[in-house]
Amino acid sequence: MKSLFTLVPCLAVTSATVLWDGRFNNYSYALRTAADFDKWSWSNQVGTYQTYIYGNLHGETASSWLTLGSTFKNPATTAETQGIKIKINSTSTWNGGPMLRTEILPQTTASLSGHLYFHVSLQIPTVNPPDPAYEHQIIFWEEHYADIKYGQLSGQNGVGDTLQVISGGTSIWSVQQPVKGTWYNFILETGSPGGLWVSTGNNALTKVFTDSLGGNGGTDWHIGALRLPINGQSQVINETDFYYSGIYVEDSGPTTQP
Ligand SMILES: *[C@@H]1O[C@H](CO)[C@@H](O)[C@H](O)[C@H]1NC(C)=O
Ligand SMILES: *[C@@H]1O[C@H](CO)[C@@H](O)[C@H](O)[C@H]1NC(C)=O
Ligand SMILES: *[C@@H]1O[C@H](CO)[C@@H](O)[C@H](O)[C@H]1NC(C)=O
Repeated sequence: MKSLFTLVPCLAVTSATVLWDGRFNNYSYALRTAADFDKWSWSNQVGTYQTYIYGNLHGETASSWLTLGSTFKNPATTAETQGIKIKINSTSTWNGGPMLRTEILPQTTASLSGHLYFHVSLQIPTVNPPDPAYEHQIIFWEEHYADIKYGQLSGQNGVGDTLQVISGGTSIWSVQQPVKGTWYNFILETGSPGGLWVSTGNNALTKVFTDSLGGNGGTDWHIGALRLPINGQSQVINETDFYYSGIYVEDSGPTTQP
């Protein structure tokens, strides 16, 4: 006869481990120029972000496009003192490509692979908001299994002023006319079971989609602005900004407070 004791499940509470912390506390606030981002290179991989994707045809540096400051963070994220403004403009041509790009990626020796929770909050600002006529890829893995996008998607009509999450080729969450100046909080749950968690402002995130995102996470995770051309035409653009904060990856939980 089995002892009842062996049937009692272990109820020990385990606390989540942050596997990679992309919050910006360790980057210099006083400078406000994000000059620390310029210290990163392929041969000097310092800091918590890789910074190699930005307009670089005229001698610009990463900090030409990245600005840190308390006004660029979700005020609800008390664990962080500042967020980041990521900018693109007409000279955001990276290595001669047709897309306009400024992106940052995790700098870490962790694989960030498995059943994990990728946290990010973003704002479409009231000042220099993106043009809804263009597709903007603003959070994505290089393999594109789960992308947060804004604007008119190439090949699709009528979605214009829409913020959405695309996985497996379909929209798994969307909001039309996202409120500019409002913080949208996301957790991308990779691996199995997988899913998507969303909230706005200081509200706790809730799970809005439960299924695999089609990928297992990984470090090739892009945060920023990638604007596609329309039908191969040259891009017409004024300065365009996105704000991000609360970026980190944890292995359990998830923490649902932004
Ligand atoms: C920030 O700096 C502190 C002190 O140097 C260090 O313990 C911590 O790991 C750093 N955090 C990040 C995200 O780099
Ligand atoms: C675009 O931004 C870069 C980097 O801040 C700046 O050097 C350049 O003058 C800007 N271009 C235009 C057309 O405003
Ligand atoms: C750029 O800004 C100017 C002045 O606000 C505006 O007239 C123009 O339509 C803008 N162009 C684009 C492509 O957004």
